[in-house]
Amino acid sequence: MKESFNLRNVEFKNRILVASGTFGYGDEVPDLVDIAKLGGIVTKSLSMKPRDGNPSPRITETSSGMLNSIGLANIGVHKFINEKLPTLKKSNSTIIANIAASSVEEYCSVLELLDGQEGVHGFEINVSCPNVKEGGLSFGTDVKLVSLITKELRKRTQKPLIIKLTPNVTHISDFARACETEGADAVSVINTVIGMSVNINTRKPKIATTTGGLSGPAIKPIALAKVYETCNAIKIPVIGIGGITSWEDAVEFFIVGASMVQIGTANFINPATGISVVEGVKQYCEKNGFDDVEQIIKSLQTDKTISIVDSWL
Ligand code: SIN
Repeated sequence: MKESFNLRNVEFKNRILVASGTFGYGDEVPDLVDIAKLGGIVTKSLSMKPRDGNPSPRITETSSGMLNSIGLANIGVHKFINEKLPTLKKSNSTIIANIAASSVEEYCSVLELLDGQEGVHGFEINVSCPNVKEGGLSFGTDVKLVSLITKELRKRTQKPLIIKLTPNVTHISDFARACETEGADAVSVINTVIGMSVNINTRKPKIATTTGGLSGPAIKPIALAKVYETCNAIKIPVIGIGGITSWEDAVEFFIVGASMVQIGTANFINPATGISVVEGVKQYCEKNGFDDVEQIIKSLQTDKTISIVDSWL
């Protein structure tokens, strides 16, 4: 059974990755979780300088979901290279460095520093964090800026370049097309959905920044619709993210068209979720007579003439 997937010049041993911000730098997971069994690890977002992030409280649980406003807290790219990458390199995993920045120049400088590092196999560019005033959504909701960032980064690397898109726009497919035109190898769909939660006793928002990013099972139907829309608009691979907690969820994403998936919030409940998804997808394929996961991708049985989403494309 073929589980692997190639993106540009990199082979992923399977199509199940762990999402940025939910697996630290790969060094905080219990020894029992064999990260080498995953298709890859996407690091926490890295910026040029270390960031403290937003004031607390910055996480709260909601119905079937989690609201976060971390504010891109991270150790900075230099500390990552010196202190985290040496351990990650030994893990026998495919490492995708996620980059966040507050200017086009910062994206370029961080990518250039990481591009020379042997253990970094590719990049995911965060243009979609809803929790910062500079960068984040102010970039990710502006199609011209998303184009510019993709174009500038493409000039600077031959490694896989993945752009992580926000669902907080009218038509995510417009942004995906811009990424494809400017040379991205793939897009990740979706980052979190803007959300809010209120304590009725204090009448205060439950997180300090008032709004935050909603993730977890609550957003899975939104993510599936955005992945479907994107997959029908572009030819480059789409990496599906949003509320995946089981292999059945991952298979749904493959059927609507995702070429790979990322497990996010579920890692906070069980950091071995990704490994059980790898096993479950394999068994599903074997049981149903598929000898390559590719055979289930974009296999949705739908009547495009009455599909609403198809009329946007
Ligand atoms: C955060 O750091 O606030 C979350 C990251 C993101 O949503 O991209």
